[in-house]
Amino acid sequence: MTHAAAGSGGREGSGPGGPTASAGPTASAGPTASAGPTASGGPAGPGSLTGRAALVTGGSRGIGLAVAQALTADGAAVCVTARDHKGLADAVRCLGPRAIGCPGDAADPAHLSAAVARTLAEFGRLDILVNNAATNTPFGPLMAVDPLAWRTAFTVNVEAPLRLAQAAWRAWMRDHGGAVVNICTEGTHGVGPDVGAYGTTKTALLRLTRQLAAELAPAVRVNAVSPGLVRTEMARFVWEPDEQEIAATLPLARIGEPEDVARAVRWLVSDEASWITGTDLVVDGGRRVRAAFRPA
Ligand SMILES: NC(=O)c1ccc[n+]([C@@H]2O[C@H](COP(=O)([O-])OP(=O)(O)OC[C@H]3O[C@@H](n4cnc5c(N)ncnc54)[C@H](OP(=O)(O)O)[C@@H]3O)[C@@H](O)[C@H]2O)c1
Repeated sequence: MTHAAAGSGGREGSGPGGPTASAGPTASAGPTASAGPTASGGPAGPGSLTGRAALVTGGSRGIGLAVAQALTADGAAVCVTARDHKGLADAVRCLGPRAIGCPGDAADPAHLSAAVARTLAEFGRLDILVNNAATNTPFGPLMAVDPLAWRTAFTVNVEAPLRLAQAAWRAWMRDHGGAVVNICTEGTHGVGPDVGAYGTTKTALLRLTRQLAAELAPAVRVNAVSPGLVRTEMARFVWEPDEQEIAATLPLARIGEPEDVARAVRWLVSDEASWITGTDLVVDGGRRVRAAFRPA
């Protein structure tokens, strides 16, 4: 499935080509106007990402799928990744004609290279990278953690985002600009039982975000979005048994939905956020200020 003329990669963007080109990015916005230093600050919303291409890891369900839906709704072409082939194929079908899938494991460097190459080959550009895929294992006290599982967590949650940022930079963003969002967690702002490995990887990812923001500026903006508790499979073991009780402790009185996080990502990669880099946008229903919250 070819969504746009592949491989032109020129600074003025790739022109439409092939029978399905109308479904792909039309390059109506010049590449340096997309997310790079000359971004004009146009409004986010439907059509605002037309002509841009995105890679979203872990896009078959949960927050990643909601992000991919938000980006395609605004006009972007999107390549999504996940390990499970069927789940990914279902997601691509649901995302519509501007989406493709690249199945594979974020722990596999060859898959990461393939995902970037596939995005470039299909869409002719790569303006937006959302590092969303992650593992929350190993779970438990750190003294019981298997160091090999710890290493895998760092491979998926920290090394993969760096590898993808490097590949996207070299293949497109260095010359054309771009925007990267790393999905971290509100949990990096504190500590909690049994999430020592996960929290340490996400804290490293937040640090990586800030370092990359400085090193890739002004061509590429790099930001984090840090969700609180969101209704997804990954967090089901937390919210399912106690949703009402947890919601009652939150100033905004409910747990998050994947779309709450997706809207923040969509805005951060849009031109409206063109003067924002190196920040961490916490989307948590007010969890961090709940100590001062008095339920009615
Ligand atoms: N839900 C929350 O409360 C919450 C809170 C804070 C932060 N977050 C962060 O939000 C992000 C998304 O989490 P989620 O809650 O939406 O999880 P989810 O519903 O479990 O979805 C995870 C997605 O990532 C894919 N994935 C997992 N491991 C992968 C790997 N090794 N390689 C490639 N793809 C992989 C999954 O597909 P496959 O299984 O088929 O690979 C799926 O598409 C994560 O970075 C997570 O740490 C979530």
